[in-house]
This record gives sequence, C-alpha cells and structure tokens, in this order.
Amino acid sequence: MQTRFDLTQADIPKQWYNLLADFPEPLPPPLHPGTKEPLLPDALAAIFPENLIQQEMCPDRWVEIPEPVRDIYALWRPTPLLRAVRLEKALQTPAHIYYKYEGASPAGSHKVNTSVPQAYFNKLAGTKRLATETGAGQWGASLAMACQMFGLECNVYMVKVSYQHKPYRRMLMHTWGATVHPSPSELTEYGRKLLAEDPHCQGSLGIAISEAIEDTVKTPNTKYSLGSVLNHVCLHQTVIGQESIRQMELAGEDPDVIVGCCGGGSNFAGIAFPFMRRKIKDGKEYRIVGVEPSACPSLTKGELRYDFGDTAETTPLMMMYTLGHNFMPPSIHAGGLRYHGMSPMVSHALKLGLMEAEAYHQTKVFEAATLFARSEGIVPAPESAHAIAAVITEAVKAREAGRKRVILFNLSGHGLLDLSSYETYLTGKLQDV
Ligand SMILES: Cc1ncc(COP(=O)(O)O)c(C=O)c1O
Repeated sequence: MQTRFDLTQADIPKQWYNLLADFPEPLPPPLHPGTKEPLLPDALAAIFPENLIQQEMCPDRWVEIPEPVRDIYALWRPTPLLRAVRLEKALQTPAHIYYKYEGASPAGSHKVNTSVPQAYFNKLAGTKRLATETGAGQWGASLAMACQMFGLECNVYMVKVSYQHKPYRRMLMHTWGATVHPSPSELTEYGRKLLAEDPHCQGSLGIAISEAIEDTVKTPNTKYSLGSVLNHVCLHQTVIGQESIRQMELAGEDPDVIVGCCGGGSNFAGIAFPFMRRKIKDGKEYRIVGVEPSACPSLTKGELRYDFGDTAETTPLMMMYTLGHNFMPPSIHAGGLRYHGMSPMVSHALKLGLMEAEAYHQTKVFEAATLFARSEGIVPAPESAHAIAAVITEAVKAREAGRKRVILFNLSGHGLLDLSSYETYLTGKLQDV
C-alpha cells in the first residue's frame, strides 16, 4: 500500500498564491496608528524594503517565485506527504489521515519557506542586516540560515523564556552566524523600560517585535523581518498547500477536513489558502480548521478589531482577532503560538466563514504528540502537535459515527529540539495554564 506521495524537484511551485485576489470581500486595510487612515506604502519604508512592501499590498492572484529562491527551496522542497496509517490503526478509525511534513527542511520547520525569499528580496534591495524576533527559536533559526545564504547579518531578539528553555535553537542560530539576545534586553529603550519595571519579565512575541523594530529604525542599513502574520509571509507559505493539492491527487483522495496550528497564522495559511481558493471558486465543501492553544486563544476568544502587532504600539494597526496587544500569554511549551493577535488574512477568512477555529490545552496536545511519535515515528514540534490534537479528535468522531473522513494536516515542524518539553510531559509535570 502506498503511504508516501512525493513530487519531483521540477514540481516545486513556480508561483505563490495570493488569497487577497479571491476573498469575496476585500481585506480591511492596515491603518496608520497616528492618523487612523489607511496606511500608505511609504509608511513601511523604514522597516521593510520596497519590493516586500509591494508584495504585502499586491492584488495579483499569482506572484512569481524567483529562480534563486526556487534553487534554495530545492534543498528540501517538495516536502513529502504521508498517510499516517499507523496512527489510524492506533485510533481504530475509518478516517484516512494525511500529513504534509514541513519538518523536513534544514531548520526543521515551514519557516524557511518565507525566510529565504525575505532574505533574497532584502539582498536585492541593498539591505545589509536584518533584525527580527523569535519565540521558540524556529523563526530565528530559519532567518539565520537564509541570511547566511545571502550574506546578510542577522540580529535576533528571542523571547526570554524560550532563550532559557530552548538553548539548542539558540545554538543553531549561532551556528548559522546570527547574533541572539534574550528579550526584553538592555539593548533597546523599550527593553530597558520593561526590565526596570520587572527585572524578571519573561518576554513575549509582542515585546520582542517591539525591540526588533526599534533596533531596525535605529541601526543603519537594517531592515526588519517578520516570520508570520503579514500578507507576504502567508503568500510565501502557499507552496505548502499547492504541493499538497497535487499530492492528494496522487493519493487519489480529496480531503474533507484540512487542519493547521495557528500562532501568527502562516503555516495554517500555507496549507489552507490554496484549498480555500477551491472552496471559493469551485464550491468545494472543505472543513478548514485552525488550532490554537487554550492559553492564548486569539481566534476562539479574541475580538475582531484593529490592534497593534506589538506591545510598544510601533506597528500599523491591523484588523485581526486579538487578545489585546498588552496580553501576556502564559509560558506554555508551544512558544511559537504565544502571540496575542492573528494574521489579518486568517482573521478575515474566519470572519467570512471560510474556516473554523478550535483551542486545546497543552496536556491534551502533548498526549496527541506522544501518540503520533509512537505510531508514526516523527516527534512533532509542540506547535504542530496542536493540529494533531484536533486531527485525533476528528478521527475519533469518525470512529464513533462509523464514517470515513479524509483528514489532511500540516505537520509544520519536528520537535527534536523541544525534548525538554516532552520530558516535562512524560514525567507528569506538565500542567494546563
Ligand atoms: C513548528 C511551528 N509551527 C507553527 C508555528 C506558529 O507560527 P505560524 O502560525 O506563523 O505558522 C511556529 C512558530 O514558531 C513553529 O515553530
């Protein structure tokens, strides 16, 4: 029985897919925080190069992937799509469970799908140095690798709780030549202010973003790079869904349910948006589910409104599901899902009823992750394991209803550098927060 569906190097997508072109209602524009008027491209010029600003606001349905980017994608793309037959057996479910494995990349997650084009477009624009934030270190590591490949310096503000708990990703960033600071840090005015108020502040993605932006505007030849949330990041990730569509065709099945975990929304967008296009254009009845932590539930408990992307209120205002930019998420093990907001495009898709959202507690997530590791072999990243918890719930429902469902999910990264979190779970010390 064939359980693995591979494409060849020639099948790496030649274009990214832009859902902005197909939304039944236009996406509300970002607003200037001072004037509250729709943001003009120039307002972003201090932090992003012009070519990426154009992509952020691009109305075209298809955007060409430059050849040098496809050449680097070829190091790991197309990623495999597998059917999880051992997990199906363990669950005794009639459901067919497929997963797209983005952990096959050199940095171990989907994040390199966007770090490579971001570094490439910055290099074209003459940028010498990039500043960024990272939660669990997946994004920082991915940008470090991409900067190394295009000869750019990389300066990373890493959320302090992850800096302490995830030393191996920090070491990975160092191996790829990046400089890494725990955030909040003494290097920025904003970091110093927070540390004066609370020397033990554990940090958050919102804070690290503020520090990276401050660094960008104060350092010559530097631009800022974001690993999620923004339109151009979601755009770059659509290689995942485009490949998955072809691979599901090879498997001879069409998914009933498509699942991805949601931090800022980019890996979910990557797998889901090409399927949403079919939902909008061809009337397909896919159930598309974004999964988040109960401890940071922007999609399931947040409000849809204009909010800042960072804690210091330096970004434009974006229309998104948000818990408020001052929300300090508890220190859960899925560091990459600790973000107060959500991609405006994913938020818009939820508002328009193109998708649904679910939230899971971390003990349930690690239970699912461990079952997956024990049946399929791959140890999932804690972030990705949120998708697995939802998939297992769906597969159990299929068993109870005695009906076959075809489920596809994005396994956005491996957890080989998250083993201390597994140990916490396996020794009974993991708690829901
Ligand atoms: C493996 C993995 N999956 C998912 C995420 C969440 O980010 P996003 O929602 O942008 O995909 C992260 C973030 O660090 C991650 O490392």
